[in-house]
Amino acid sequence: MILAIESSCDESALALFDPARGLVRELISSQAAEHEKYGGVVPELASRMHLSALPLLLSDFSSELKQATTIAVTRGPGLLPCLSMGVTLARSLSVARGLPIVGVNHLRAHVHSPFIAVHAQEPAGFAAARAALLPHLAIVVSGGNTLLVKLDEQLRLTVVARTVDDAAGEAFDKGAKLLGLPYPGGALIEKQASAGDLKKYPFPRGIPEKADLRMSFSGLKTALRYQLEKMSDDQLAAEMPDLCAGYQHAIIEQLASKTGAALDLSAYKSVGLSGGVANNRTLRARLAQVAQQRGLPMLVAEPKHCGDNAGMIAFAAWADVGLPVDAAAVPAASLTVDQV
Ligand code: KG4
Repeated sequence: MILAIESSCDESALALFDPARGLVRELISSQAAEHEKYGGVVPELASRMHLSALPLLLSDFSSELKQATTIAVTRGPGLLPCLSMGVTLARSLSVARGLPIVGVNHLRAHVHSPFIAVHAQEPAGFAAARAALLPHLAIVVSGGNTLLVKLDEQLRLTVVARTVDDAAGEAFDKGAKLLGLPYPGGALIEKQASAGDLKKYPFPRGIPEKADLRMSFSGLKTALRYQLEKMSDDQLAAEMPDLCAGYQHAIIEQLASKTGAALDLSAYKSVGLSGGVANNRTLRARLAQVAQQRGLPMLVAEPKHCGDNAGMIAFAAWADVGLPVDAAAVPAASLTVDQV
């Protein structure tokens, strides 16, 4: 039974995973409303909020804590002061209860998160069900990262493509800020875009060459800024749905075209989508179409496992590191945060 702790950014979370049953319980405390006042995450404030939230979550988790045989914790990447809070709690629990501790890479956990639902369907048959889906192309799209990653039959990860500048979520959030929408703006752009004409404002598609798998989202934000400089406040208000539709379309089409190109370069048996931006329904539908055109199944992380969460950390500690962890566990005192 794995008790996992996540505190890499602005969510404090705990989860208990039982390999025989799946995720038994998940708790999350979000700081988003607090950071919204500042237009982004303030690391110092976030770490202090973890300091008060994590013990409260833990007191609610006392019966799960008794069942835990291993502690898993996000060791990076993330905001250093925030990661330190989770790692300190993990080390304390590990020492106090004499349990092994496993540090989990947050991005690896995103890669594995679409497989949580595969495990939930039939825990005993998970190894065979997953083997039938490998090699797998994972599309990880979050506020801080945009990656296409190959997960091969030996569970080795290879980064196939990545953004050279902003992440897709960052493009949504920075675009939303320019449009006067609150942080984090991705979901709000999606809402506005649903009533808009995606052809009225065509925005650039980063690196359009198909043979080049690199992605770029920073020029898009600059193009939006230049467009907005030509518009009055009233025009902006009237054109908001069309601007959002065009902007979102440019982000989605770049992801769709690079995913298609990556799938055509190497043999895959499935495609996965995870990270906060995977909440976007238009993106899900577009990437499902890209996979379907190649006859591949598409696994999408459940909404509660798209953003930061401890469920995916607990699951990855088992599904990726390969618990039971005697070999993988490190002495509590040697686990530090890293910034991979
Ligand atoms: O995974 P996550 O918590 O980010 C990191 O920790 O890096 O995801 C947060 C990101 C934000 O950029 C947010 O705007 C975006 O996910 N997001 C969305 C949607 N929901 C969340 N972006 C586009 N459409 C959405 N519906």
